[in-house]
Amino acid sequence: MMRKITVVGAGHVGATLAQRVAEKSLAREVVLLDILEGIPQGKALDEWQAGPVEGFDTRVVGTNSYGAAAGSEMFLMTAGIARKPGMSRDDLVRTNVDIVKAVSQEIKAVAPNAMIIVVSNPLDVMCWVTKEVTGFPRDRVFGMAGVLDTARYRTFLGEALNVSVEDIQAMVLGGHGDTMVPLISYTTVSGIPVTQLMDRATLDKIVDRTRKGGGEIVSYLKTGSAYYAPAAAAAQMAEAIVLDKKRILPCAAYLQGEYGLSDIYLGVPCKLGQGGLEGIIEVELSKDEKAALKKSADSVKETIDLVKL
Ligand code: NAI
Ligand code: 2OP
Repeated sequence: MMRKITVVGAGHVGATLAQRVAEKSLAREVVLLDILEGIPQGKALDEWQAGPVEGFDTRVVGTNSYGAAAGSEMFLMTAGIARKPGMSRDDLVRTNVDIVKAVSQEIKAVAPNAMIIVVSNPLDVMCWVTKEVTGFPRDRVFGMAGVLDTARYRTFLGEALNVSVEDIQAMVLGGHGDTMVPLISYTTVSGIPVTQLMDRATLDKIVDRTRKGGGEIVSYLKTGSAYYAPAAAAAQMAEAIVLDKKRILPCAAYLQGEYGLSDIYLGVPCKLGQGGLEGIIEVELSKDEKAALKKSADSVKETIDLVKL
C-alpha cells in the first residue's frame, strides 16, 4: 500500500478513479484535487463514506490545493477537458496542453520523486508534455490508453465468440486514436489464435469498432466521453505498481529506439511494478503491423509538433 496517491481532476474519470483506488486499498490516503471549489471536497467526502460499506480504510480527501498532495508517491492525471461532438482535435490539444503543463509544474514542486500516470487527452501528447515539463525519467511518466483500448477489443471479441472475456489475451498498441494498432497476430483465446475461431471479415469489423470505441460512447453521451472503463484501466495500472505485480500491459511509454522510434510516446507492451515502468518489451510484428505502428507514431508526432510549451 502507498501512503498517498493523488488524482488530479475530479471530473468523470478522476472521481471514478479515486473511488476505485480507494476500494482497492492502494493507498492510506487518496487526494482528489481540482480547480473547481467544493467539487473535489464534496465528491471525496461522499467516496470516503463508502468505506464502511465497501470495507476500505483509505481516507479520501478533496482539495483545491497542492499542499494536500505534497509527498504523494503517485499522481493520476485526469485534468483537462473531454472531447465533445463537433470539437476539433486541435481545440482539445490547445486547452489541455495548458492545463497539463500547469499541473505538471505543481507536481514537480510538491512531489519531485513521484510517479505520474497520465490519462488526459490527447494521451500520447499529454504524456510528452508531462515529461518535458517535469523532466522526470520515463520510468516515472507514462500513460493509460492501451489497457482501455485492449479492454474494448476483448469485450467485443468475447461477445462475438460467446466466450468469457477473461480467456481472451490481446494487446492494442500505438497512439490512442483512430490509428491504434490491435495486434491480431497476438490475439488468442486461451492460447488458440483468434484467426482459428473467427473469419477475417468479422475480426476486421471488431478492430474497426475498437478503434472508434471512444467516439461511439461520445456519440451517445453528447456532453462528454467514457469514464467507467477508463477509470478501471488506470486503476489496474496503479494496482500493478503498488502491488509490484510485474504485469505486462500496453502503456504509452517514452521510446528511445524501441520499435525503431525515439523521443515519442506510443502504446507498447510494458512491465509495470514497484519501479513504475520497469521495461518495454519489443515483440515481433508483421509487416502490416509495423507499418501501422509507424503510421500511428507519425500521427502522434504531427500533434506534438503543434504544441508550444
Ligand atoms: P471532466 O470534464 O469530467 O473532468 C475534468 C476535470 O479536470 C474537471 O473537473 C476540471 O475542473 C478539471 N480541471 C481542469 N483544469 C484543471 C487544473 N488545472 N487542475 C486540476 N483540475 C483541472 O473530463 P473527464 O471525462 O474526467 O476526462 C478527463 C480527461 O481524460 C479528458 O482529457 C479526457 O479526454 C481524458 N480521457 C482519456 C482516456 C484515455 O484512455 N487516456 C479515457 C477517457 C478520458
Ligand atoms: C476514450 O477512448 C475519450 O479517450 C477517451 O473513451
